[in-house]
Amino acid sequence: MPGIVVIGTQWGDEGKGRIVDYLASRADMVVRYQGGNNAGHTVEVNDIRFKLHLIPSGILHPGKICVIGNGMVIDPIALVEEIRYLEGYGIDVKSRLKISDRAHLIMPYHKLLDEVIEEHKGELQLGTTRRGIGPAYVDKAERIGIRVCDLLEPKYFEEKVEQNLKMKNEIIQKVYGKKGFEKGPIIESYLKAAEQIKDMVCDTTSIIYEFSKNDKKILYEGAQGTLLDVDLGTYPYVTSSHPIAGGVCIGAGIGPTLIDSVVGVVKAYTTRVGKGPFPTELLDKTGDIIREKGYEYGTTTGRPRRCGWLDVVMLRYAVKVNGLSYVAITKLDTLGGLEKVKICIGYKYKGKTITDFPASLNVLSECEPIYEELPGWEEGISDIKRIEELPENLIKYIYKIEELTGVKVAFISIGPKREQGFEIVKLF
Ligand code: IMP
Repeated sequence: MPGIVVIGTQWGDEGKGRIVDYLASRADMVVRYQGGNNAGHTVEVNDIRFKLHLIPSGILHPGKICVIGNGMVIDPIALVEEIRYLEGYGIDVKSRLKISDRAHLIMPYHKLLDEVIEEHKGELQLGTTRRGIGPAYVDKAERIGIRVCDLLEPKYFEEKVEQNLKMKNEIIQKVYGKKGFEKGPIIESYLKAAEQIKDMVCDTTSIIYEFSKNDKKILYEGAQGTLLDVDLGTYPYVTSSHPIAGGVCIGAGIGPTLIDSVVGVVKAYTTRVGKGPFPTELLDKTGDIIREKGYEYGTTTGRPRRCGWLDVVMLRYAVKVNGLSYVAITKLDTLGGLEKVKICIGYKYKGKTITDFPASLNVLSECEPIYEELPGWEEGISDIKRIEELPENLIKYIYKIEELTGVKVAFISIGPKREQGFEIVKLF
């Protein structure tokens, strides 16, 4: 029962879609287990840049079964749009996509609340994607959430919407001074979306279990990254789900015994969207060069990403909390052309050296990175076809990451296309 988990080791946008796409070619099933359409996975196939938000990247491989797990929050309107977008490219989605009946729905009031709560926070706002993710998970924990299975029972769905609107409209109007929602248009648009997706809705835990028992290869595709985990990330500047490897068990509805290995995706440098401390952030020309060369703009929101050097203090933390078996390093081509590259190996805090990632953001924001400097490598390496032909200094950079994290590098990528990657360890 090979089960491989692919997660992000930083603040998301590590290029997980790229690694998942490569592993998906050998998998039988690809499962997403947390988050919603706050995620943006970019995969380039035959010069087409696919941008996926809800559907696992495995959908780009014909014949693979793709699962939206119970731990996800689904905006059904956005899901229907994404299905249509893929169908527009001739991709068969409906016979291969399975949607958990236990997943929670993102409702229109979640999106509005996401916006007004952010505005209300002023200086303290998180910089959310405003897709309603946080408020939907809040309702799940508050036990007033509406699930996919409810959507398939129109009368019950209507009752639940009505109950929730009573409460939500009070908050929206009285606390935030905005116009509340009418029940009718919500019911109409959601039930219309339900018609489109109902044949894909099922108990996904049974399918995943069955595949596992029959020795099928299952890939669990994380969204966001370790530092955005609501428990283990840079709280409160996090998302509301569990992007770490442990999130798979709850969000896909499996036991830990069904996981064989965990691959942590590491971008060759660090990026972050939204607010919060970022010790290795580059506010100079080098940061701008990395942003432009690496197309570091949000797939979901188009926001410019903050860019900085690779941070091994953070990576070692990700190794621990995810129990990483391997790492996959992406976007090594972006750093090409820089005379020197730096890796943060520790932090200086109040005159002391710290090597463990701190919980306190006050401490983190005062941490000064301690760098190890390595010689850079040339530009224009994306068309190299053999690993032996890669620049020597790039190989040294990879070995350095291996040495500093204590985890074997299984895969590296030097460009967005399928053929621009090298497999070092065969995972499936
Ligand atoms: P939310 O997930 O929309 O609630 O946003 C919470 C935080 O997570 C914000 O800082 C977002 O920028 C960040 N975030 C959410 N999804 C992603 C992602 O896919 N990549 C990178 N950052 C993300």
